[in-house]
Amino acid sequence: MGQETSSLVDENVPPETLTERSVDAVASLIKDGRAKKIVVMTGAGISTSAGIPDFRSPDTGLYANLARLDLPYPEAVFDISYFRKNPLPFYHLAHELYPGKYRPTVSHCFVRLLSDKGILLKLFTQNIDCLERAAGVPDQKIVEAHGSFARQQCIECKASYPEDLMKSSIMKREVPHCLTPQCNGLVKPDIVFFGEALPENFHINRMVPSTADLCIVMGTSLTVQPFASLPGLCAEGVPRLLINSERVGALGSRADDVLLLGDCDTGTRKLATVLGWDKELEELWRETSHTLQEDAHADAHVEVAGSEKSKDEKLEEEIVALTKEVDMSLKISEHRTAQIRAQVNDCDLRGP
Ligand code: OAD
Repeated sequence: MGQETSSLVDENVPPETLTERSVDAVASLIKDGRAKKIVVMTGAGISTSAGIPDFRSPDTGLYANLARLDLPYPEAVFDISYFRKNPLPFYHLAHELYPGKYRPTVSHCFVRLLSDKGILLKLFTQNIDCLERAAGVPDQKIVEAHGSFARQQCIECKASYPEDLMKSSIMKREVPHCLTPQCNGLVKPDIVFFGEALPENFHINRMVPSTADLCIVMGTSLTVQPFASLPGLCAEGVPRLLINSERVGALGSRADDVLLLGDCDTGTRKLATVLGWDKELEELWRETSHTLQEDAHADAHVEVAGSEKSKDEKLEEEIVALTKEVDMSLKISEHRTAQIRAQVNDCDLRGP
């Protein structure tokens, strides 16, 4: 469990636990009930198909596209020292990243499915988009290692700040200040910035991977510590499956490591199909179209090259929006009919 070498395991070395280094063998482990405590570790790559860019992809990643924010270096947008001097770039970005504008991906739904099956031990995520919650992964199963937009506080006196005021500041791209008299410190969502400690929940759960019987790593470059060290905590002989567009960290160096290189959604769909869960997965994903907020359709994408939603996704969102409009019209006409029936003169048809 110490420092791992990153070189690929010799292909002649047989796996200890799996019958072979393949997705089919991982699926068999799950189907046979030998993987009941699955730990999942995720990063920005599982949300790119939702329209949120990752950080480090060369052309499409956030860090390659922040010139418009006029930063001294890209990571400054999440640096606490820089935030103290100039919080505006962060609030500009927060406007684009704020939860509610995006729909969970198939990969988020796959984690939800593991939870529904009772075999998700813990999900460690570096993402701040809250899409795991939106997909229905229970709160107590999630460790948001880099915090989230779920809460906010003053960076000076640590007083919490009301969510509705925070939302309104972010929508207006304004910097909120502490409401405590005489403080007036800068308020920031509880997202972990460079130079800040990780949440207590991360430290409480940090050793959980050492008790897992299967590890799935998805959509992360595993470049930021201490998160990057989590897969190394899994015991030798515990299979680790990487679903990612590239090989990362030391994944692939152990005899029971399986690399499924490519798109996360394609990878999770493949695993679900071998498991015979494909219909359930698609059903869960269909249900998530309702998680988008009603006002989200107009501006639901981050302005980064290459991160535009696919035609199918846009079409599906338009259908959801239209369905909501039709629902709204129906409610209004039912309301109207009821009012006429009751012969109410002073009617108000603004709808619910
Ligand atoms: P990165 O951008 O560093 O890595 C994303 C990984 O996902 C890369 O390996 C991509 O190739 C891969 N990827 C992207 N889209 C994919 C897709 N559709 N299918 C498969 N793979 C895909 O993002 P993180 O690892 O999450 O921290 O970054 C870690 C931390 O660095 C973030 O939490 C953030 C950042 O600085 C803080 O802000 C504190």
